[in-house]
Amino acid sequence: MARLTILEYPDPRLRTRATPVTVFDAALSALVDDLFETMYAAPGIGLAASQVNVHKRLIVIDVSENHDAPRVFVNPEILSKEGAAVGEEGCLSVPNIFDKVPRAQRIRVRSQDRTGAVVEEDLEGLLAVCLQHEMDHLEGKLFVDYLSDLKRERIRKKLEKERRERAARPAAAAAGATTAL
Ligand code: NI
Repeated sequence: MARLTILEYPDPRLRTRATPVTVFDAALSALVDDLFETMYAAPGIGLAASQVNVHKRLIVIDVSENHDAPRVFVNPEILSKEGAAVGEEGCLSVPNIFDKVPRAQRIRVRSQDRTGAVVEEDLEGLLAVCLQHEMDHLEGKLFVDYLSDLKRERIRKKLEKERRERAARPAAAAAGATTAL
């Protein structure tokens, strides 16, 4: 198992459209395990392979409080949608930003598990919203795309500023250490 690096907005690689998974082998299963480890460590409730720069149609989700309801969705398709749910969403690729996004309340979904077995099921509430969010990632779409241009631009600038500050910090610490010595 390994923790993978999560791409952050506005990294252009997050805009890649993922291709279907066609081989259900040990490597796929290992990737699923790594996605779970990365998601739990972040911590988050959902992660699409796109976010770790693997552009395959593969999603892991666990909306439970105790990390005991892991769900794998390979090649997911939404067959039907019902109702409206507008909740605050965040994203591991857009750290510390939350905003309202319109989603369907209930969805009927066909997907495959890590062995390739086809599963068809009805999902609702947080699990349904989370899967819709993660499926957007597979299309290269992010939740900030639902916001106004002005808001999205503000978010981009804020994240870039934070990244610059993060990058500058180790250098400043090193300089401080030199002075102290
Ligand atoms: Ni996300």
